[in-house]
Amino acid sequence: MFYTADEPHGLPFDPFKAIIAPRPIGWIGSIDAEGRVNLAPYSFFNAINSRPNLIAFSSDGLKHSVRNAQATGEFTYSLATLPLARQMNMSSAKLADGDNEFDYAELTMAPSRLVRPPFVGESPAALECKLVQIIELSDVDGRATGNYLTIGQVVATHIKDDYLRDGRFDAVKAQTIARCGYNDYATVAEQWELTRPG
Ligand SMILES: Cc1cc2nc3c(=O)[nH]c(=O)nc-3n(C[C@H](O)[C@H](O)[C@H](O)COP(=O)(O)O)c2cc1C
Repeated sequence: MFYTADEPHGLPFDPFKAIIAPRPIGWIGSIDAEGRVNLAPYSFFNAINSRPNLIAFSSDGLKHSVRNAQATGEFTYSLATLPLARQMNMSSAKLADGDNEFDYAELTMAPSRLVRPPFVGESPAALECKLVQIIELSDVDGRATGNYLTIGQVVATHIKDDYLRDGRFDAVKAQTIARCGYNDYATVAEQWELTRPG
């Protein structure tokens, strides 16, 4: 099939997010100006640069995670894994302003060292980030979408030693999960190597 963005695709759901899949899940910890803690998953998320290490998540509107990053200049990322999938999903619940999804999902608030927001203590790996930029996304005609891309720079990394093998982070052991389309997820269960030419 073929369709342009201007015509109906005729499918029960837009396949866009199933085509751009699997997407890593940015499990974002933040605090508001009063120090109240927040946690939420974002799958419009990725690593976008190394040297320095930058990550970005995109919010449909100004959700708590963006507003908190804006207010405090900081956030954390925790790796979402299969054993934590149910709690990751629970942390996407729309709670009232200031209600803590760590408590709601019964997750441990592990203290960060260089930033104030905590990260998920049960997660095999986490990143402490300082806010670089929040960009309101616009469309091809320059119209504002009302959606926001939040970019952070990694200032510290936590890895549970059990998940290091020969000095490498073991994503298969961690059972890293990623978001596919619809309500589907994928698990990193197998990895294979390919060496670049040259
Ligand atoms: C796996 C998963 C991925 C999600 N990805 C996004 C996303 O990329 N952007 C977004 O705006 N919401 C996303 N959501 C929904 C948010 O997690 C949800 O709206 C949450 O309540 C936002 O929390 P906050 O307002 O505390 O930041 C996702 C939910 C799940 C379960």
